[in-house]
Amino acid sequence: MEMDDTFSNNSNNRTFEDVLSAHMSRRSVIVGGLATAALSFFGGSVANAATPKGQIEAATRRVAKNPKIAFTSIPLQSSAMPTIAPEYTYSVLAPWREKLDGSGKSYPIAGFTAEQQEDSVGIGHDGMWYFGDEKSGLLCLNHEYGVTQHIMGKSVPQSLEDVRLSQAAHGMSVIKIENTAKGWKIAKSDKNRRIHVNTPMVFTGPAAKSDLLKNAAGNPVQGTVNNCANGHTPWGTYLTCEENFNGYFGATSSTWKASAEQARYGFSAAGFGYDWHKFDARFDLSNPGYVNEINRFGWVVEVDPNDPKSKPAKRTALGRVKHEGAEVVEGKNGRVVVYMGDDERFDYVYKFVSKQPWKKAIAAGKSPLDEGTLYVAKFNEDGSGNWLELSTANPALAGWSLDKILVNTRLAADLAGATKMDRPEWITTAADGYQYVTLTNNTQRGTTGKAGVDKANPTAVNTYGHIVRWLDGDNNVGTTFSWEIFALAKDVADGSGQMFGSPDGIWGDDDGRVFVLTDGEQPGKNNDQLLVANAATRQFSRLFTGVKGCEVTGITVTPNRKTMFVNLQHPGDGDPRLTNFPAPYSGIGGPVPRDCTIVITRKNGGIVGT
Ligand code: FEO
Ligand code: CA
Ligand code: CA
Ligand code: CA
Repeated sequence: MEMDDTFSNNSNNRTFEDVLSAHMSRRSVIVGGLATAALSFFGGSVANAATPKGQIEAATRRVAKNPKIAFTSIPLQSSAMPTIAPEYTYSVLAPWREKLDGSGKSYPIAGFTAEQQEDSVGIGHDGMWYFGDEKSGLLCLNHEYGVTQHIMGKSVPQSLEDVRLSQAAHGMSVIKIENTAKGWKIAKSDKNRRIHVNTPMVFTGPAAKSDLLKNAAGNPVQGTVNNCANGHTPWGTYLTCEENFNGYFGATSSTWKASAEQARYGFSAAGFGYDWHKFDARFDLSNPGYVNEINRFGWVVEVDPNDPKSKPAKRTALGRVKHEGAEVVEGKNGRVVVYMGDDERFDYVYKFVSKQPWKKAIAAGKSPLDEGTLYVAKFNEDGSGNWLELSTANPALAGWSLDKILVNTRLAADLAGATKMDRPEWITTAADGYQYVTLTNNTQRGTTGKAGVDKANPTAVNTYGHIVRWLDGDNNVGTTFSWEIFALAKDVADGSGQMFGSPDGIWGDDDGRVFVLTDGEQPGKNNDQLLVANAATRQFSRLFTGVKGCEVTGITVTPNRKTMFVNLQHPGDGDPRLTNFPAPYSGIGGPVPRDCTIVITRKNGGIVGT
């Protein structure tokens, strides 16, 4: 479900489609599931892929692997229950409202309160990461959103108590999970905790003390919201990313008008219909006491899952956008690099490079994510790319202060000349050393007043999206990269036609598999799904399909990769007439469907994806 249909990038930067058109027409490549097409492009392997001369100084490219993907690819389907490849099985873990006390019990939906929600698994399961071994560990689990109708059976909140329930359903959970005789379950642990919209937080990094983050009301820094995708660090922490935060704000005054900065982030008087602003002044755009509350959201938030008393930290050095995820890699000399998508039509891809090697920063008691350089991507038509620095050193940002750049990152990136993309969602690093970014769709591409299409991009409206990959220069810390299309979703076909649309979640394993999860319209109006692609041949196989109205998102594994966790978000869009999952389907009168985690294993005990 796309909660944000606004369009807020009106800058004149060249669109990715323009660049892609030129690039692809020059190469006249057919991208698809056919190995032959891939071979004509790559000359047999990813390792031999044509790259622009002189663009990569010291590439991280590794030898392409040809992983085993031997399971039976299943058909698309549109039922109230999931399906999985016959070689696999699944079970359900941590549904919305399950108590954190390890009892396995859930709070009933009748009379469900904010206090109970703060004590149980939230809704809108999205990005996640597992920190543990084959038997037990901590699962950090994002709760992106749940609509009021789903959570409390009415379309809008009618009291502050209702708003507090909605706010408590958002955020994330840290839960200890164990593989028991009855499968994976939430275990009792003093590390189990909920983090939500009213949890105390801290700001760190270059903009932490900025006036742009202060309110006249003097209210403390609290909360995280619309926690979409995620990241994790080499030092054992979790990153939860705030995406469509704008939709939770609204204006009680009819005279409120968006400033240029507010418009660029999509704020509107009505918001997405959550109506928090009617009962909680913090979310009222027209309340003079809280004018900078909007600047306190849109960040990457670092959480230490092992310290339940620690305050989550909003890392300002990573910029403020509609953060999809945060893919962390260790680059040259141990510096960390964080790749981030800003999910909006015509918005950008970013990266942050730490100033110090992460081990040195940690040893000095500093966060490696607090000092470094933020860049935004420019994709050139010859297949090269540039990382444009977003700092006071960039002449395009003359007169800007660093805190202003980090708070109004989108506007700074407009001035820097970044390439407009088709909604950058997740980014992953695959075994071939490439970063892969899902560009989920852009239904405004080629419409009136928008950038058009050409021979290489024959679809006037990019309904199904595509996936781009790049090889980053100087072991990920450089300012140049080379890029290419991995797949145009509309052209990737199985025996029954097109295989998928709206790629969103993506994760590359160590063997050269690329797992793709979808969120949006699938061919034939079928359910969202989990696919496994071979990075070398670009062939896709379908492993799992979700239920009617859901998104399949979030992906993590145990260390031996024989257990995989994915999430089933907003089953039936909350409507029990469509599905009652995880309960069996009983139609009208059946239970309200619950967002949950799906545990996937191979029946023969093999690695998931084989
Ligand atoms: Fe929350 Fe862009 O997906
Ligand atoms: Ca979602
Ligand atoms: Ca997403
Ligand atoms: Ca999406």
